[in-house]
Amino acid sequence: MSLNLDFVRSQFPALADGFVYMDNAGGSQVLQSVGDRIRDHLLATPVQLGASYEKSVEAGRRVADGHLAAAILMGAARLEEVVLGSSATQLVSNLALAMRGQFQPGDEVVVTNVDHQANIEPWWRLEKEGVVVKTWPVNTTTWSLEWDDLARLLTDRTKLACFSNASNVIGTLHPVEDLTRRIHERGAKVCVDGVAYAPHRMMNVAAWDVDYYVLSFYKMYGPHISALYGKYEHLEKLANINHFFLGDVIPYKLQPGNLNFELTYGLTGILDYLARLSNCETIGFANRDQLAQGYEAIAVHEEQLSEVLLAYLRTVPGVHLIGLDDSSHDRRVPTISFVVEGHDSQTIVEQVDRHRIGIRFGDFYARQLIESLDLLPNGVVRVSMVHYNTVEEVQRLIGVLDTVI
Ligand SMILES: Cc1ncc(COP(=O)(O)O)c(C=O)c1O
Repeated sequence: MSLNLDFVRSQFPALADGFVYMDNAGGSQVLQSVGDRIRDHLLATPVQLGASYEKSVEAGRRVADGHLAAAILMGAARLEEVVLGSSATQLVSNLALAMRGQFQPGDEVVVTNVDHQANIEPWWRLEKEGVVVKTWPVNTTTWSLEWDDLARLLTDRTKLACFSNASNVIGTLHPVEDLTRRIHERGAKVCVDGVAYAPHRMMNVAAWDVDYYVLSFYKMYGPHISALYGKYEHLEKLANINHFFLGDVIPYKLQPGNLNFELTYGLTGILDYLARLSNCETIGFANRDQLAQGYEAIAVHEEQLSEVLLAYLRTVPGVHLIGLDDSSHDRRVPTISFVVEGHDSQTIVEQVDRHRIGIRFGDFYARQLIESLDLLPNGVVRVSMVHYNTVEEVQRLIGVLDTVI
């Protein structure tokens, strides 16, 4: 099945203005189906949940549908395994807080040097409790997190390994299922950052057997709301970070305060859209495998976008890719970063800005990576595409880059 780009683009109202959106790893455009639901909730059912009157019951149903959509999208085994929150950063911080009592001084946690700080900093904070935090460095030849490098760091005190499903800078896909199996064999749990992965490929958190997994829907065609998956048996053991009288109710004990109701309801629009891409009427837990069709079409199209840009960058003297020179959709997402000898990343981007093309420079909060590559302060130029981008848009960008670098 190939991607019906006319259909795809018609679902994102912002794309009609002719601007080229290529800062999608920062935040994607939002689906009409999402915006409609958010508006509808705000204007038709803006009441507090949990009461017995009709409107409250209806609002509660909408929010429950949004929660269910998140669980189906992630591939959780059950609804309660998905905790919603304002951002991935907040959710990982809450997780680390709720896990704190599970660590003894001398226990070890591994983080990477390639990831967004969201899955690093909350674990660093455990050092105050005597936890030893080790760093798994990305291999800058393969631009991948290599098992052998991790294996050297694991000991019988390692309790948790934190890494990403895809990098938001170098674009590499990491083999989460395989890494998780090996890490489990060594007696540790995993916490995976799926934020840069979720807009591109299908998530299967239960099948992958991950312990914790986080994503943000504003990078996945939806609103500013995020989700943390945790295996039910692990969530049961986490401390309550909500009101004492909520005791151990999952997921509420990990969801202090109200959810954002309208944004939660908006998530149903993402699931509906992905179902339509797969030619399905409705998707539930039982038939979610059918989403694979739509994701496959996305992957094939994305590979084409990556290849067009990479083919150009290969020809330009002085361009250094910060990431794989490989467009295969099973190895990377179409997030392509580079630096150019003799050109400042900021200057390149500002020149591109004038042409109504949105790309970006910086460290993208993958600060350890950019620092280790000695690329501060202005970091890399990042072109981050998603499936609604077109080959013509990539060619338009190339035409501009050709006058700049
Ligand atoms: C890979 C990755 N992880 C985590 C985050 C943080 O997400 P949030 O803004 O929801 O905290 C980002 C945001 O750019 C990201 O790209």
